[in-house]
Amino acid sequence: MTDHCTIVNHPLVQHKLSLMRRVETSTSEFRQLLREISHLLAYEITRELPMTTRTIETPMQAMEAPVIEGKKLALVSILRAGNGLLDGILELIPSARVGFVGLYRDHDTLKPVKYYFKVPAAMEDRLTIVVDPMLATGNSSAAAIDMLKEAGAKNLRFMCLLAAPEGVARMKEAHPDVPIVTAAVDSHLNDLGYIVPGLGDAGDRMFGTK
Ligand code: URA
Repeated sequence: MTDHCTIVNHPLVQHKLSLMRRVETSTSEFRQLLREISHLLAYEITRELPMTTRTIETPMQAMEAPVIEGKKLALVSILRAGNGLLDGILELIPSARVGFVGLYRDHDTLKPVKYYFKVPAAMEDRLTIVVDPMLATGNSSAAAIDMLKEAGAKNLRFMCLLAAPEGVARMKEAHPDVPIVTAAVDSHLNDLGYIVPGLGDAGDRMFGTK
């Protein structure tokens, strides 16, 4: 799409996303598909991680082997739906450090309010990947990234499953330095703030709460 927002057009991602969108897809199928897609999105979002080499011994001889440079990544889940993406990425990057941001929307001001915030130490030294499956208005994602920057994070990326154009625009305005990776950008948001055609409420669908 743009440098700021990458759409992962891989056939496996697109096929799995279509299965997830279907109203008849069960909770367990939805969760499994989310886990599989999260691996593929994580592959894309980590594509340009800085590399270095380390001397290792193979059974044959010593070699300079490529390894990822720097401190361990921080994965930050925006509660609660972010946890569905988080689980899958942790299977791929098991040594990553993990943080959580909990926000709710104040009924009167409609502004995101923080109810939980816990992140790893030394955020300024880590690549931070923020995960939330649905980038809708972008307000809570932008607020979460504000908080992470206040906590020291400097090098951030945002990973979602589905985005609305409104959310991508809001993020670009608030955080042009934070690239977005998503499986799709849909048509629009409806009056209730749901992505259309979307897949419904991602949290309810992954946790079976409706
Ligand atoms: N959050 C969801 O779970 N679904 C949407 O469509 C928008 C926000």
